[in-house]
Amino acid sequence: MTTTAVAPRVQAFRASILHFVDDPAVVGDAARQYFDDGLLVLADGKVSALGEAATLLPTLAPDVEPVDYRGRLLMPGFVDTHVHYPQTDIIASYGAQLLDWLNTYTFPAERRYADPEVARDGAEFFCDELLRNGTTSALCFATVHPQSVDAIFAAAAARNMCMLAGKVMMDRNAPDYLTDTAESSHADSQALIERWHGKGRARYAITPRFAPTSTERQLELAGRLFAEHPGVHLQSHVAENKAEVAWVAELFPKARSYLDVYDHYGLLGPRAVYAHCIHLDETDRRRMADSGSAMAFCPTSNLFLGSGLFDLEAAHQHGARVGLATDVGGGTSFSMLQTLNEAYKVALMAGQTLDPWRAFYLATLGSARALYLDDSIGSFATGCVGDFVVLDLHATPLMARRMERTATLAERLFALMMLGDDRAVVATHVAGECRYVRG
Ligand code: GUN
Ligand code: ZN
Repeated sequence: MTTTAVAPRVQAFRASILHFVDDPAVVGDAARQYFDDGLLVLADGKVSALGEAATLLPTLAPDVEPVDYRGRLLMPGFVDTHVHYPQTDIIASYGAQLLDWLNTYTFPAERRYADPEVARDGAEFFCDELLRNGTTSALCFATVHPQSVDAIFAAAAARNMCMLAGKVMMDRNAPDYLTDTAESSHADSQALIERWHGKGRARYAITPRFAPTSTERQLELAGRLFAEHPGVHLQSHVAENKAEVAWVAELFPKARSYLDVYDHYGLLGPRAVYAHCIHLDETDRRRMADSGSAMAFCPTSNLFLGSGLFDLEAAHQHGARVGLATDVGGGTSFSMLQTLNEAYKVALMAGQTLDPWRAFYLATLGSARALYLDDSIGSFATGCVGDFVVLDLHATPLMARRMERTATLAERLFALMMLGDDRAVVATHVAGECRYVRG
């Protein structure tokens, strides 16, 4: 019997195209590829070719009509390495640092996600908001309720988005209405891994909220799950706020540091992602790097909650993986452009800088590397999924005016990250399919 190969579905997109193949802070100019009049070709939603339009257009079959995004900048979709989808509802809540903010705003908001209809509605809004901002993948916290995880994976699947999410594990120091038990959190997480991990583009992340809200037994069981399920992620928070750090020292007096609590329970390693990482010492940073764990840099959140300044240079010097993150609703914007705006200022406050190449690397390939997903997202390397954002550098009168006075792509990118937001997103495509169009 002969089998007939089915021809792949080919799509092509013509635009100015930028992506990164490596870290600009390590390899310099060789880290990026830019085609002023470029063509991105996808076969069955995956990258099959990228190059100059003049070179690639003649290679297309006659029936392939390129989508014309000339005059726009096409980049890999942004990757948000730390965000809480149920906190969309309390973004921009006034006047509190971390621990008060959790008690006053966050926990009551998360309580509502026990209702599957609330969770469905919140998850749909969240995914659409990501796409409106050019973000095509995220590592996100749900709530303690397993049904909130079902909701986010269902909403992401309906849009074919690569989504990583997990049920919050939290068995102490939180309101009764929001706590599980060590054993129930283990059983629920295990069942969710079986239900969702690897289904389509869904990936499970074991999610102990942070050390203060877990008993030792719960952390131990989280570590056991992480060891037993290769390929699954783990996400938590560490060293965000000074009062939080002091509380952890009281709760875990034997630990050398906050990070050491997680280390003790086997919660570090490849695919473990820790949000904030502000108040770490050199030993902690070395341990993050050596263990292959990643730091999620959340500048808008760190400023909004008055938490402190992330040390990007120290992370880099230690060779730790760093991703960029909005941390909504502690963070104040879904826009990774606005997140870069604040990241730049954080770097300057620490006597460092964040040039536009490294900035856009962080929002794309850097974040994909932090998640160990750079074989499928974060760049246009052959075989990667065709997740991308189409950007309008003249989206507002002010941006248009500023762009007229730029001479280089680096200048334009910098103005984009300082002045741009969702208004600059013309379209967002997931695996080639258009999932958002402006206006
Ligand atoms: N630490 C523990 N939980 C949270 C949270 O929901 N947001 C932030 N920013 N930090 C946390
Ligand atoms: Zn967070």
